[in-house]
Amino acid sequence: MANLLDVKNVTKRFGGVVANKDVTFSIEAGHINGLIGPNGAGKSTMFNMISNVFPPSAGEIWFEGKRIDILPAFKMASLGISRTFQNIQVFKNMTVLENVMIGLHTRTSAGMLSAALKLPKTKKEENFTYDKAMEHLLFAGLHEIADTFADSLPLGKLRILELARALATEPKLLLLDEIAAGLNHQETVEMGKLIQSIRDRNITILVVEHDMDLVMSICDKVIVLDQGEMIAEGTPKEVQNNERVIEAYLGTSDDEEVSV
Ligand SMILES: Nc1ncnc2c1ncn2[C@@H]1O[C@H](COP(=O)(O)OP(=O)(O)O)[C@@H](O)[C@H]1O
Ligand SMILES: [Mg+2]
Repeated sequence: MANLLDVKNVTKRFGGVVANKDVTFSIEAGHINGLIGPNGAGKSTMFNMISNVFPPSAGEIWFEGKRIDILPAFKMASLGISRTFQNIQVFKNMTVLENVMIGLHTRTSAGMLSAALKLPKTKKEENFTYDKAMEHLLFAGLHEIADTFADSLPLGKLRILELARALATEPKLLLLDEIAAGLNHQETVEMGKLIQSIRDRNITILVVEHDMDLVMSICDKVIVLDQGEMIAEGTPKEVQNNERVIEAYLGTSDDEEVSV
């Protein structure tokens, strides 16, 4: 079967810093994939290239058999790749519902301008957008707080909201960057269940995550980066027992609470 995503020999340089060095991996449709590695390993940089925040310095990224690293940003929206950010990016002065409705605007043809002008076509789309948004809130368990303003939500709910908004675009590939950071044990377990139920809807997931219990319990496959290079890939068990992986984590000088 063809891969959903192919990262081929991707390198990213920021001046003298090599954030990713000749990284090659593939992702099959329908799995939960983990991207792990110590702080500064290049995980967020890889996410930024897959979601076209910036292009690689070298190498290629292919999605559903199409090369995407050379596409202009506006063409990316319709491809079916959606993401959350390590630093939560929700509109704090909007309600939970409005935040998810914003996520849906990339799917409706009338777009932001006609929405603002309230053209007749938009009325229909508004109803559609509302129904769809509510459907996603229900799925994520946020329907009861649909009218709550985002700035009064605790971190755990904010992270679910960002996830619901990313889901609203009905992506084929969902990128989650440290979605469980700062969550307590119970919230982390719930997040794991939510991610699994997204996978069960046939959405392929790539998660960057520091919580190894979460990674090991939900991922079908794990890719390990260290100092920009890919040092291992395999099942959670395989990477857990991989010497280079153990070394990379033990050798890390930062204070992450990572145990392998
Ligand atoms: N926009 C940027 N400009 C300059 N350096 C960056 C930028 N983004 C990341 N880096 C550097 O690239 C390296 C990898 O960072 P990052 O991808 O954020 O790692 P991770 O997400 O694995 O912690 C780090 O040395 C970081 O300082
Ligand atoms: Mg990061």
